[in-house]
Amino acid sequence: MNFPATRMRRLRRTEAIRSLVRETHLHPGALIYPLFICPGEGVRKPISSMPGVFNLSLDEAVKEAEECAKLGIGGLLLFGLPAEKDEQATGAWSDDGIVQTALREFKKNRALDSLVTIADVCLCEYTSHGHCGIVARDGDHYEIENDSSLELLARTAASLAKAGADIVAPSDMMDGRIAAMREALDRADLEQTPIMSYASKFASAFYGPFREAADSAPQFGDRRSYQMDGANRREAMREIDLDLVEGADMLLMKPAMPYLDIIREARDRFDVPMGAYQVSGEYSMLHAAFERGWLEPQRAMMESLLSLRRAGSDFIVTYFAKDAAKVLA
Ligand code: PBG
Repeated sequence: MNFPATRMRRLRRTEAIRSLVRETHLHPGALIYPLFICPGEGVRKPISSMPGVFNLSLDEAVKEAEECAKLGIGGLLLFGLPAEKDEQATGAWSDDGIVQTALREFKKNRALDSLVTIADVCLCEYTSHGHCGIVARDGDHYEIENDSSLELLARTAASLAKAGADIVAPSDMMDGRIAAMREALDRADLEQTPIMSYASKFASAFYGPFREAADSAPQFGDRRSYQMDGANRREAMREIDLDLVEGADMLLMKPAMPYLDIIREARDRFDVPMGAYQVSGEYSMLHAAFERGWLEPQRAMMESLLSLRRAGSDFIVTYFAKDAAKVLA
């Protein structure tokens, strides 16, 4: 049937009707808030490129987490800024590492029971050179070693799970890491800990502000020998396939808005739970426009999040989690 019998505008006439026929929804329980935990006490250091985001010492992180729980947010994604860095990323896998310590503290706090604690597994915040794996140097030439990095990444995952992480989320992009982590977890009697893989993580300029927040910018070179080329959709599907075969339980797609097609295709192909990570640069870019009065903050924020749900993600990691949860309350 065509116009005039069919009139699409009939179902757009009132907010009540629009609400009834709305296909995609956001809810606070499907939002994950990233926290950057740093040494010290009473520290709340603003990240200049990410308004409203801070490096938090553990005492402050607990307060932030309690606020998230009150807002009904689904979980936290934890990153750590260690007091010291070295070539072996000792701070990533030592049992008294900064995120391990935070996890043990969070798990004692009943007010945080409703939050899923997700530990990002990577070495870049903990290595002196800022790369996500072990670096082998030969004069001017350097190589990010794959296989020797696996052992440290697997140790990191097991240590974080042992400290209480509900989920471990590898973001390093070394080949074979999911299998290595699954084996390390199982060997440590942590066979119930799920792995959420950033299976098809792209080498993206949109991680720029994060590297200030996590103090993890590579000191030389870039991440293009391990993170994916943004031009490759088929390769992304293959990466996901491989990680699922190796034992990944769920996926985290990233970046988000510049890669909506990848999210949609992954949703259509793979029947596993999937999140999207609205990364630091996406957040900063929107904030820059808000500050200039170029975009309406609340509407632009909600629309950006809705696009990720519509593309097929079940949940969203976002620096807007608290702001969005307040809107949805
Ligand atoms: C660690 C990691 C990064 C992000 C999440 N985990 C940075 C990177 O790969 O350089 C980026 C998140 C963001 O930009 O918000 N490897």
